[in-house]
Amino acid sequence: MAMHSHIDRILWTEDQISLRISQLAAQIVQDFPPAPSPPPVFVGVLTGAFIFIADLVRKINLPIDIHFLTSKSYGSGTLSNCAPTISHHFNVDVNGRHVILVEDIVDTGHTLHKLIAHLKSKGASSVSVCTLLDKPARRKVDVQLVGEGKFYRGFECPDSFVVGYGMDFDELYRNLPYIGVLKPEHYS
Ligand code: PRP
Ligand code: MN
Ligand code: MG
Repeated sequence: MAMHSHIDRILWTEDQISLRISQLAAQIVQDFPPAPSPPPVFVGVLTGAFIFIADLVRKINLPIDIHFLTSKSYGSGTLSNCAPTISHHFNVDVNGRHVILVEDIVDTGHTLHKLIAHLKSKGASSVSVCTLLDKPARRKVDVQLVGEGKFYRGFECPDSFVVGYGMDFDELYRNLPYIGVLKPEHYS
């Protein structure tokens, strides 16, 4: 696919993303053998994670549950407001379950911090995180897993504003099949 004219450069192509997701899926399958029931609960964080979780779970050949919740902290800017709003529609019973939170990107860490605390308070026996991108340069809050929870990440992201493959600026660009850096003139 031709590069969108608002994209400065592509960081990861469709093929690179797909290969990395296969590796993450294989790792998860190894770590969550099918024996202990009930099956692990995958929770996709909408909206950004919608493409990633769809590709990820199709590579996981295990019985799993899949749910979604919505968390917003960026609105139409490029900086986190540090106080994500979590939708109240998430009423899945995670008590005694292994939960794997699926994110497109961890930036300041505020979103995951709040979600993990919520799942812990609901009695999850472990909370893991599977994020496609991790941008450690921006971290404000540590990601503290629960129980034997694990942290899976696809790629370390440089400190640039990235879009595509589910990630947006002001709701645009989510449908790009690759991940790229947005030209600054399109967000300033
Ligand atoms: C983005 C991204 C993560 C979160 C990461 O979501 O999808 O969920 O921010 O940032 P943080 O680590 O600083 O909290 P956003 O709030 O933009 O909502 P969206 O997924 O609908 O785009
Ligand atoms: Mn998000
Ligand atoms: Mg966003």
